[in-house]
This record gives sequence, C-alpha cells and structure tokens, in this order.
Amino acid sequence: MVLFVVGLGLGDEDDITVRGLKAVQRSEVIYLEAYTSVLGTPKERLETVFGKSIVIADRNMVESEAERIYMPAKETDVCFLVVGDPLCATTHTDIIIRAKAEGIKVEVVHNTSVMGAVASCGLQLYSFGYTVSIPLFEGEWRPDSFYPKIAYNKAGGMHTLCLLDIKMKEPDYEEMMRGRVRYLPPRFMTVNVAIGQLLAVEAVRGEGVLSRETSAVGLARLGQSTQMIVSGTLGELLEVDFGKPLHSLVICGEQHPCEVELLDMFHVRKGGWSRYVRPDDNTSSSSDNGDEDDGADGNGPPAHAHVTGEGLKQ
Ligand SMILES: C[S@@+](CC[C@H](N)C(=O)[O-])C[C@H]1O[C@@H](n2cnc3c(N)ncnc32)[C@H](O)[C@@H]1O
Repeated sequence: MVLFVVGLGLGDEDDITVRGLKAVQRSEVIYLEAYTSVLGTPKERLETVFGKSIVIADRNMVESEAERIYMPAKETDVCFLVVGDPLCATTHTDIIIRAKAEGIKVEVVHNTSVMGAVASCGLQLYSFGYTVSIPLFEGEWRPDSFYPKIAYNKAGGMHTLCLLDIKMKEPDYEEMMRGRVRYLPPRFMTVNVAIGQLLAVEAVRGEGVLSRETSAVGLARLGQSTQMIVSGTLGELLEVDFGKPLHSLVICGEQHPCEVELLDMFHVRKGGWSRYVRPDDNTSSSSDNGDEDDGADGNGPPAHAHVTGEGLKQ
C-alpha cells in the first residue's frame, strides 16, 4: 500500500500529471490539502473529472490530525493532493516523515509550483535569493521578519519572491463566544495590500531597503487562463487591479539584459521598464533617468497594464 503525495499544479483539473492521475485512480481514499494554496477550480470539479470523492484536509487536520491522512495507507492506497508542488514553498515533509516512521511506503508525484512559474515574468530563477512570506497584519500584530531577508537579497543583487498570506477557515471568535462554531470567509492578500505593508514596514525600520521607486513584478493566477503579470515600481503596482487570487510579488534585484527585455513587455506602461535601468551597471533606478514619463509617480491607474491569457486589458 502506498501514500501518494501528489502535486496538482497551479491551474485546474487538467494540470495533474499522468503519473498523478494514475495514483488517484488506484487510491481508495483521497485528501485535498486546502489551506496553503488554492486551485483555480472547485473540489467538485476535481471529483467529477477524477471520478472519485475527495475529502478536504484543512489546516487542523494536516497539522494536528495528520495520522487520519497517512494511517489508512497501511491498509489501502491513499492520495494526498497538494496544489502546486507538494514539496515547494510550504513543504509537507512532516507527513512524509511520520508515514515512513510507520513503515508506510510514500511516493511523491511532483508538479509545477509557483516557485518555478514565477520565471514567466522573465526573471531568472538562478538569480533569486530567499523566498519570503508576507503575513496579513492584524491591528497591532505586524510581524516583519521578511524585511532583513529582502535586505539581504537586495545587497546580493538577488530577486525576492514574496508569497502572500492566505487565511482559510479562521474561527469567528464573536460567534464562538455565543457558543456557535463558525468560520470567517477565506481571505487572500493582494499585491496592493502586500505593497502597502512593505512600505509601512520600511517607514518603521527606515533602512532604505524599499521605496515607491523599487522595481517589482506583480503576478496573479499563474498557470491559469487569466494569468496576469505586471512589472513597474512599487508605487505604480499599487494602482493596478490584479483581480482574483492568488497573488505573488517579486522585488527585483539586478537584472540581466534578457530579463530587462521580458520585463519591458510586462511593464505597466508597456516598454517603460528598460528606462529604469542604468546603462552602466544594470541596476534598477527610476530616479536618475530625467524622463518625466518614467511611470514612477504611481499617479492613477496605468494606461497599459499587460495581462496575459483571457481578460486581456490594454
Ligand atoms: C504556500 S505557497 C504555494 C505552495 C504550492 N505548494 C506551490 O508549489 O505552488 C502559497 C502562496 O504562493 C503564491 N501562489 C500560489 N499559487 C499561485 C499562483 N497560481 N499565482 C500566483 N501566486 C501563487 C501565493 O502568494 C500563495 O499565497
């Protein structure tokens, strides 16, 4: 018997690999991990296409009751489906270690992850440093441990992939005080909220790591038909509506001319990106190019937000 840990990719039911689909077909019990990422299609659609019923594995089940997922694999084949790749960004190594300790055979079936798909903006994966997670601030709770990592990447000329917070199945404490178990609707951090928080942290820490002129790329729904990629300064990207979740943000480091060429195509005012780049050192700057139309003022919605796939906005 096998515990299959299967990546679903980033798009919809079509993105499962042949190997992953074979694992689903031979499994009697199928779980879908549904709190670290979401697919662009509902669970019911997966059930119809795979011809299997699927149990949602929420955060509580994965973190506190993981044995409910792997122990049945002592008796029968079990699939644990994960959006993206099961071992990228949030890893599911804990479940794998515990299953192996029980003598259960584990097979990982890999798939596309946001950590690879981010390259579709033109930035080369080799030039990324630490990946950081940006948590949604709640009142006075404003963790900023991502800031030194962005600073470290910047000092080394590296890009930073910022993964943006997802809140799934959060308890509604007001309802709980009335004795009812209720959950708040899911919340997904947008590129705009992430930028607002990054600039707020910069205002407090004041180390000059980030500003409205910092060059960046906003990415939404990578791998889906409505995928959207826009490059610009943080000030410019603040004004862009990236639409439905999921969103990610890249803070750019130094860029190779090939990277500049592609970022130009995704620029908020198409073709404006290369004007940020100083010819002498290839580092991004919009403050010294003397061009009044450098797009760095962030005033008003961009005229040419470049959208790939369906919903092309120009
Ligand atoms: C824990 S990570 C994803 C891990 C997933 N296993 C993977 O390999 O892609 C979740 C975060 O990645 C980013 N993300 C995931 N899928 C995305 C997509 N299709 N487009 C843009 N960002 C995405 C979002 O910032 C999201 O909050």
